[in-house]
Amino acid sequence: MGVASVNSVRYDLFPTTVMTFEHDASALNQAIADHFLNHPRYARADQAERSDSLNLMDIVDETKAFAHLQSMFERALGDYCRAVGWRGDFDLAMQMFPNVAPPRHYVPSHNHVAHVAAVYYVHTPAFDGKPIIDADADMTDYWRAEEGVLILHDPRFNASLNGGWQHFARVYPKPGLMIMFPAFLWHEVTPHFSNAARLSVAANFTLTPKDAAAYERRLDFSV
Ligand SMILES: [Fe+2]
Repeated sequence: MGVASVNSVRYDLFPTTVMTFEHDASALNQAIADHFLNHPRYARADQAERSDSLNLMDIVDETKAFAHLQSMFERALGDYCRAVGWRGDFDLAMQMFPNVAPPRHYVPSHNHVAHVAAVYYVHTPAFDGKPIIDADADMTDYWRAEEGVLILHDPRFNASLNGGWQHFARVYPKPGLMIMFPAFLWHEVTPHFSNAARLSVAANFTLTPKDAAAYERRLDFSV
């Protein structure tokens, strides 16, 4: 006996929201680049290892550009939280840290200890004709080397080990671009070989609901 019909329902569960914000901010980028390229702090050999021990919000007296950038991050975070449905009043723990990447520098795969992460690009190699995000490339393209691109990995645990679930995205950054994503999203930056340093500012955001119970607040290691 045949079945007359089947009620098929599709659920795309656990989406990963990534947002980009493009800014026309050449003066801001110049001010941040001047700071990164002229202050001896960023020329140290161990700059990359120590970069996330600095909070650029603590040195706004050195350049007001960081205060401006902080407000841009905060505005974008508001848009991001509305997009993913985080409503209510939160205490925000925020860090902005520098990425000053000389030629041949790369960033291994990692995620961030926070709720939301973001990067703002100050100076990058040019990617003429490339989209900001390419998430449709064939998996064989994963192995193609490209300079100074941000690779976002599929956050579904070990999904990439199984045929049919192999997905990744490439981000082709440009000055003025901010990208915001869940802090759990694994990502890496491929090496670049430009003479000019690749400059960006990363940010971490940890949000604690103001009405959180006391036992939940103890889980916030950021305060
Ligand atoms: Fe990162």
